[in-house]
Amino acid sequence: MINKILAPSILSADFRNLESQIKLVEEAGAGFIHCDIMDGQFVPNLTFGSIIIEAVKKCTNLPLDVHLMIKNPDALIPDFVKAGADFITVHAEEVVHLDRSLNRIKELGAKAGVAINPSTPVESLSEILDIADLILVMSVNPGFGGQKFIPNSLKKIKRLADWKKGYDLSYLIEVDGGVSLENVREISEAGCEVFVAGSSVYGSKNINTTIKKFLEII
Ligand code: DX5
Ligand code: ZN
Repeated sequence: MINKILAPSILSADFRNLESQIKLVEEAGAGFIHCDIMDGQFVPNLTFGSIIIEAVKKCTNLPLDVHLMIKNPDALIPDFVKAGADFITVHAEEVVHLDRSLNRIKELGAKAGVAINPSTPVESLSEILDIADLILVMSVNPGFGGQKFIPNSLKKIKRLADWKKGYDLSYLIEVDGGVSLENVREISEAGCEVFVAGSSVYGSKNINTTIKKFLEII
């Protein structure tokens, strides 16, 4: 039985105090720090790059789960590995040679993840299931925090969980977008293992208690 992991997204953190915001979730029991890289091209929003990842790395012992929502991610993979990313996730919709990109991430020493948008079928990943260390099911259209969970994502998670069991595969199943204390039980029961949560963690009154509640449910 694999341990379930909560991965708070710093997209919703208070950037005036990024270090303390990261320490807060680490002390409460978070398992990964999820970092959303947006370029204003692949998604209609702009966040931060590898310089911030380098700074975040110095604030925590937790693995950094770096989600690249950018055009041509291949060009920046080495920079993010160097900055301290432990997991690097690229979007299947953006990379032309997914097999190559995943292998490149692994050769450079990081874990390789692939993300799919709500409109992308999980079946499109069938040929790389044994290469991926992590499969990220986007449960909102990427670009912004605080959006509503798209229920069809549950079916995709279930399918990935069935394949993982049926074919004895090792990828982690991750969900990202609209995850809350209200829906996380259902998502967990569908077979999800890593839960990204931005606004429901950083937007809550007491971050510590919220994380403890999440961990109890999953
Ligand atoms: C959305 C990002 C998410 C975002 C999730 O494009 O990839 O990681 O931070 O935020 P919430 O949990 O608020 O939906
Ligand atoms: Zn993300």
